[in-house]
Amino acid sequence: MGNERIYNFSAGPSMLPLPVLERAASELTNFNGSGMSVMEMSHRSKAYQEIFDEAKALLRRTLNVPESHEILFMQGGATGQFAAVAMNLMGRTGLADYAVTGNFSGLAAKEAKKYGQVHIAADTTEQKHTVIPRQQELDLSTGAAYFHYCANNTIYGTEWDYTPRAGCPVVADMSSNLLSKPVDVAGHGLIYAGVQKNMAPAGMAAVIIDKSLAGSELPCTPTILSYKTMIDKDSMYNTPPTYNIYMLLLVLRWVQEMGGLAGMEELRKERSGLLYDFLDNSRLFTCCADRSARSKMNVTFRTASPELDARFVKEAAQQGLVSLGGHRIVGGMRASLYNAMPVEGVKKLVSFMEAFELQNS
Ligand SMILES: Cc1ncc(COP(=O)(O)O)c(C=O)c1O
Repeated sequence: MGNERIYNFSAGPSMLPLPVLERAASELTNFNGSGMSVMEMSHRSKAYQEIFDEAKALLRRTLNVPESHEILFMQGGATGQFAAVAMNLMGRTGLADYAVTGNFSGLAAKEAKKYGQVHIAADTTEQKHTVIPRQQELDLSTGAAYFHYCANNTIYGTEWDYTPRAGCPVVADMSSNLLSKPVDVAGHGLIYAGVQKNMAPAGMAAVIIDKSLAGSELPCTPTILSYKTMIDKDSMYNTPPTYNIYMLLLVLRWVQEMGGLAGMEELRKERSGLLYDFLDNSRLFTCCADRSARSKMNVTFRTASPELDARFVKEAAQQGLVSLGGHRIVGGMRASLYNAMPVEGVKKLVSFMEAFELQNS
């Protein structure tokens, strides 16, 4: 395979658009005539401030973020936000509602319990997280400070196809689908995402917060996790993840060139449609998620036996289709089809699956 790029179906960190990597490589040692790499720049320098401001402005424009909301870049990934959300928002009433529809929303609820009372408004554990609750199935409590849900369940391959409503601010973990389709930002009090899927290299979380929600954090909240401090300091209370923010800027420019979020949505429909159509007609492979809840980002599927699954993953890798193994807690297979996955990659995967099916059924 040598220097060729391969199709990487990893759930994250995952593929970045090739033009973005090439651009980053071309300015790696000397950014814009500055004589230095972005990695080497002071975060207080004018050159870096321009990168930062453009990244933020472009994210605002791309996601159509209203003026009521602030954009923050924070460290600690999405997991850091499990704690930050609870520490910053729970104090208002001491109670929060959580929908548990997979591993990460379960972890978020568990973390929140350290800081107040958690009411489980929905739990799909019994259905092995193959479904997403409908609005009328949510058991929302009165007096909750916020309602938290995970918009795309990376491990189980399910995705909310609507923005849930609650009588309190709605908080979403959009780690694995932010930037892949238009989002109702105004319908959310807070959105956060670990950036390592659709947005940038691992190492940061993007946070979009209704500014009116900041300022009532628990006294024990670390300064670095305080939304109020981060808003006041424009995400530069301390040294921000400078290179990640630069990479995010390059990705956002690429998203614009590809038609913005409408363009990304078209592509995600095309990619996932190719694979689901094949799965629906397959005699060997079955789809894990219920049809009503299928994710357009992470497609989960399996054969009838774990041994055959393992052989599939191994033989696919030999064809340059890598990281197709399911998450260790569920097994089977998972194809993550984030923004940077070319449609050709999915076509190649489907062709390989057709051939594998012929040989093994
Ligand atoms: C939906 C979701 N939430 C949270 C996380 C945890 O993210 P991080 O590793 O950035 O803490 C992940 C990671 O894959 C995820 O997919």
